[in-house]
Amino acid sequence: MTPAERVLLQNKSWVQEKFALDPGYFQRFAPGQHPQFLWIGCSDSRIPINEITVTSAGELFIHRNIANVIGVDDLNGLSVLQYAIGVLAVQHVIVCGHYGCAGVLAAMRGPATGPLDAWLDNIRAIQAAHREELDAIAEEDQRWDRMVELNVLAQVRQLTQAPPVQAAWASGAGLQLHGWVYRLDDGVLQELVAVSPPALSG
Ligand code: CO
Repeated sequence: MTPAERVLLQNKSWVQEKFALDPGYFQRFAPGQHPQFLWIGCSDSRIPINEITVTSAGELFIHRNIANVIGVDDLNGLSVLQYAIGVLAVQHVIVCGHYGCAGVLAAMRGPATGPLDAWLDNIRAIQAAHREELDAIAEEDQRWDRMVELNVLAQVRQLTQAPPVQAAWASGAGLQLHGWVYRLDDGVLQELVAVSPPALSG
């Protein structure tokens, strides 16, 4: 059996199991989705999002890329943001980074090749803006951890200016932004920042 065949086979047994436990399971999702959350996370294979958050199908609208970035000219990410907020009316946008992010480390270590190099410029710009703080950290692992956090904080800050977020807030929607970080070592999610709509934050 090839690895792909194995995965298809696992899917078959999953379908049978789900159906046996709850015959209406798949039919319930057919009419449409009403997720409360947009999750913007890293593509890293070690972060099974529904599993670590104990959420079900239909709860999270998910966008993933290398190092959980929403670039200002990233049509993919900006379209997800537009649709999730404007159409699905999610109430929470979560940017979730993770310690041990190879994308962040690659950006810190220097040039890469191909399209990845240009993508990592998103991280390098944040690094440059925090050069002084980062240079004061002697240990590379600790500098890496801090850069992971600074990236999440910068993405959330950037989201506050994004047109779909601004429009939602202007219309009185209670949209909240969250910056979280995940630790691969122990599976714990930690909040770094939370941003409420300006009108409601007092
Ligand atoms: Co990563």
